[in-house]
Amino acid sequence: MFDSQAFRRALGNFATGITVITTTTPEGENVGLTANSFNSVSLDPPLILWSLDKRSNNLDAFNQASHFAVNILAADQMDLSNQFARPSDDKFAGVNFRAGIGGAAVLADCAAVFECSVHQFVDAGDHIILIGKVEQFEAEGRAPLCYHQGGYSIVMPYSRLAAESSEPTAPNGESKIPGRLDTNLYYLMLQAMRSYQADYLPLQMSSGLQTSEARMLMILTEHQSLDAKQLVDAVAMPEQDVRLAVEVLERKGLISEENGIYSISVQGHEKSDSLWHLASEEQDRVFAKFSDEEIATFSKVLKGLIN
Ligand SMILES: Cc1cc2nc3c(=O)[nH]c(=O)nc-3n(C[C@H](O)[C@H](O)[C@H](O)COP(=O)(O)O)c2cc1C
Repeated sequence: MFDSQAFRRALGNFATGITVITTTTPEGENVGLTANSFNSVSLDPPLILWSLDKRSNNLDAFNQASHFAVNILAADQMDLSNQFARPSDDKFAGVNFRAGIGGAAVLADCAAVFECSVHQFVDAGDHIILIGKVEQFEAEGRAPLCYHQGGYSIVMPYSRLAAESSEPTAPNGESKIPGRLDTNLYYLMLQAMRSYQADYLPLQMSSGLQTSEARMLMILTEHQSLDAKQLVDAVAMPEQDVRLAVEVLERKGLISEENGIYSISVQGHEKSDSLWHLASEEQDRVFAKFSDEEIATFSKVLKGLIN
């Protein structure tokens, strides 16, 4: 038997951006949905693709569409992603947009928008692939909203320099970070995060849970019990992934649901304690070379930067 849930989870290892794809019905009504299946196809002619679940309420609208717009969401548009991932009569309520080519909605403040005419439909299993010819595009270059292992993420730039030298300080105590980067606090914070994550994430994964499942369990321990909406807000994951993660955690006996309220089981508390323990052990290991006073100042600076 092919395990399609495991397949879906495996696909989640391919980190993507998130788009909201819009079109209009023949009656001129705006429709749209959240999709991460977007990809580039051809430069000349300029073609892109995405795939639409045949169960979508908007299948007919897209089948009849002459145009659609691919709105690439920016990092601060998580609420839009959630809004368009939920079937609703009025997905556009409160959304700032204008009518683009063929009437397809162009949402405000996205990272980029590709306005397309329909080039080709390809029937593919339980989805249809829509290939669009890009007629017009705008790229604002805003930081994108990303999707990885069922959760929302943001991009962290990679630095070859820091990746190659795990020790940024030479034996003589001099910094190996060149030039102005050495005093650029943003660069230093990014590199510090990258090093921390590289060691910590494999530890967290060794729990047998995905990052997003582990995050959900740890958050539930802090709150004791939450309803579905509070859970979605607290874990920064799309609703459908919250549902899937809940299924996994329920199956493992770590959480339970009663009358729409999720709470953590005894086993869940144990698992969560072990995850928190891993987190604090790793923190102790990483910060062992600093004094309590230095750590307290560091913590104060970090909290002062968060807004
Ligand atoms: C991150 C994310 C990516 C998604 N990607 C797709 C996709 O590529 N294609 C698709 O058909 N649905 C995708 N969905 C699911 C739809 O957004 C969701 O089923 C939506 O309710 C469909 O709305 P509709 O039935 O009103 O069209 C995705 C959802 C999320 C949260």
